Amino acid sequence: MVGEASEAVNAGILAPNQDEVPGRAERPATDLYPPCGMPQPESTAHPIPAMSEALEFEVTLFPNPVLRKVADPITAFDDALKRTVEAMYTRMFESQGVGLAAPQVGLRQRILVVNETGDAKEADQNLTLINPQIVARSGKKVLLEEGCLSFPGIYAEIERLDGCVVEAQDIEGNPIRLELEGFLSRIVQHEFDHLEGILLVDRMSPADKIRNKGELEELKYMYLESKR
Ligand code: CO
Repeated sequence: MVGEASEAVNAGILAPNQDEVPGRAERPATDLYPPCGMPQPESTAHPIPAMSEALEFEVTLFPNPVLRKVADPITAFDDALKRTVEAMYTRMFESQGVGLAAPQVGLRQRILVVNETGDAKEADQNLTLINPQIVARSGKKVLLEEGCLSFPGIYAEIERLDGCVVEAQDIEGNPIRLELEGFLSRIVQHEFDHLEGILLVDRMSPADKIRNKGELEELKYMYLESKR
């Protein structure tokens, strides 16, 4: 399932064709985007509404500091968790993503939802990983373009090992162990990074940081504006 180099890995976003992103060519590529390690003010995690209310998530965008937090383990496999997971799938599919991590909806929780088809009708491909750990990575190094729902309009070629072994729990708390490779392995590796506060921008090459400088600055500006 690993695409060719030109195929965007939409670990979090469907990335049809980066050349179609308006304004990309006109962006000045002058100096480097500053290194990561954003200041971390108070978390802006969404509270979980009462059981009677519908749970609805928006995607948290870079550089919201919640994306930099190490997420906390899930200890209760209850209805609140099921509602959270369900709402995460809804958000992921509506955003045309193939994976979503709880910090991307403002929650400091170790939850990943994945569906490599990105198609809500293919629910049998849903993969819910609670408290995931990547216990091994193996295979050849693969360079592939990735996007991220928290970085709209930004794409970068990211090098990862092709395979990984994931240990996690399912939504009921049962242990699961998966040996993954190709596209699914890449999505899980990307989403797992989110639980550790590691973001696309951290894994970008200096050249990609320069190429995406305008978009990154725009996201920072929008975040600051939203705080006013
Ligand atoms: Co992402």
